[in-house]
Amino acid sequence: MRRLIRALSLIAVAFAVAACDTPQNYMQNTGGPAARSLANLGWEALVPFIAATVVTWALIVWLALRRRGTLDEHAPLEADPGRRWIVIGGIAIPVAVLLILFISMLDSLAAFPMAHASGTAPEIRVRGRQWWFDAEYHPRGEGQNVHVPGEIHIPVGRPVEIELQSEDVIHSFWIPKLHGKMDLVPGQRNFIRIEASQPGRYEGECAEYCGAQHAHMRFAIIAEPPQKYRAWLAHQRASAAAPSNYQAAHGREVFMSSACPICHTIRGTPAQGRVGPELTHVGSRKRIAGDAFENNTANLAAWITSAQSMKPGSQMPNFTQFSGPDLQALTAYLRGLR
Ligand code: CUA
Repeated sequence: MRRLIRALSLIAVAFAVAACDTPQNYMQNTGGPAARSLANLGWEALVPFIAATVVTWALIVWLALRRRGTLDEHAPLEADPGRRWIVIGGIAIPVAVLLILFISMLDSLAAFPMAHASGTAPEIRVRGRQWWFDAEYHPRGEGQNVHVPGEIHIPVGRPVEIELQSEDVIHSFWIPKLHGKMDLVPGQRNFIRIEASQPGRYEGECAEYCGAQHAHMRFAIIAEPPQKYRAWLAHQRASAAAPSNYQAAHGREVFMSSACPICHTIRGTPAQGRVGPELTHVGSRKRIAGDAFENNTANLAAWITSAQSMKPGSQMPNFTQFSGPDLQALTAYLRGLR
């Protein structure tokens, strides 16, 4: 009996640990209406299945602990009373549970359609790349288009339609606290409407295996009050800041005279490459390299010289020719692009 109690408490601890809140936990502390609906659906599925598991194990334990009984007790029985158990427990209850889940699921699908809302243009277009997300603002709306890698800002309190495309293989766009998953498929336009009820940073990640660095393909949705969002977008539209000191100015020279501009864009400069992430405001972002590493001087320098050790297989080569004062100047320039 003591062993049984110990086993049961271990199971309880496992459930408690599983209930810990992480950015991937879509069952708790959801940030928007779609995620709330999916979380409810999750609980509706989890609770009956836990109940069924507990009842099944209780019956197994009960049978195991039961005394063996006499031969008379084990004589052939009338099967009729047992048949009722099978009909109720084996057919009626599962059918009822699955039917309720199916209807709830249809309800969620209808409430949060993953299709283009007619009559509107998507506000943001997100392209999946191996291995980062590139958000393009106002793909057919007003103002200059801007590309923002990794950090997708949205206004809080209303749905924002996002068009999803892929430049290479199939990726999947998933922000567990805001919505379900939607694939980015080459040659196809998919749509998702994201709504955050409260301001905040919501972590997202690629949820479809897409190559060696799939696990390093992350992003974040940053939900802000509308005014703050507009200010952010206006700032993103602005050209890059001029270097503020001698070191940064030297860094800019190093950048422009090397291979960097072939792949990267810094608006307001000759750098117009579209292979890698745009760097116009790279200094204002929290993370770099597909949101995989903190954006600080050490990581930037490491990324420039040894990207292939940090994210093997990515398109960023190791620029081992940069070292000493040149490397320091280069990182100072990039850090200053806020
Ligand atoms: Cu992109 Cu996994």
